[in-house]
Amino acid sequence: MKYILKAIFIAFVITSCLSQAAAEDTSTENIAADPRISLGLNAAEKAEFLSEMRQMLTSIQGILAGLGEKNPNLIAESARTSGNRMARATPDSVRQKLPQSFKDIGGPTHMMFEELAIRAETDDMDMLASFTSELMQQCLSCHAIFKTD
Ligand code: HEC
Repeated sequence: MKYILKAIFIAFVITSCLSQAAAEDTSTENIAADPRISLGLNAAEKAEFLSEMRQMLTSIQGILAGLGEKNPNLIAESARTSGNRMARATPDSVRQKLPQSFKDIGGPTHMMFEELAIRAETDDMDMLASFTSELMQQCLSCHAIFKTD
């Protein structure tokens, strides 16, 4: 009798766990589909593209460190790695797939990194911080619209 009760209890625990798992499964159906526009990059293009993105994040980190240290050279050097140099380095196969609406945000973003590098020579740190925030609006605008695949 004791064993039967135990078996019933275990069966009860297992079924309640399973039904909970099933409930979690169906809850993903309520998540809206990703509405961002796909750039349709292949695996190699995506790897290259995302490594440029991570470089831009590295630039932002260097810029913030430079602002904290009040070090204009660090700000300028960090900004330049994501400026024209990066724009020119984008492989042709990736460039050809990028729609004009993407380039309209991406091109000015690289130019703003170049502008920040120049402004680092003359502007106050708080002005440079505000400009960095403006620059990062570009990251937000583009991320809201596009995805790689
Ligand atoms: C013109 C468009 C555009 C701009 C501007 C842009 N990004 Fe991106 N970024 C993307 C897209 C598209 C992805 C891929 C998103 C996806 O597939 O989910 C991405 C992904 C990333 C990733 C993820 C990298 C990885 O390895 O997964 C980082 C980090 C990133 N961006 C940083 C930045 C930063 C920082 C800025 C601004 C300084 C920036 N991006 C500006 C389009 C842009």
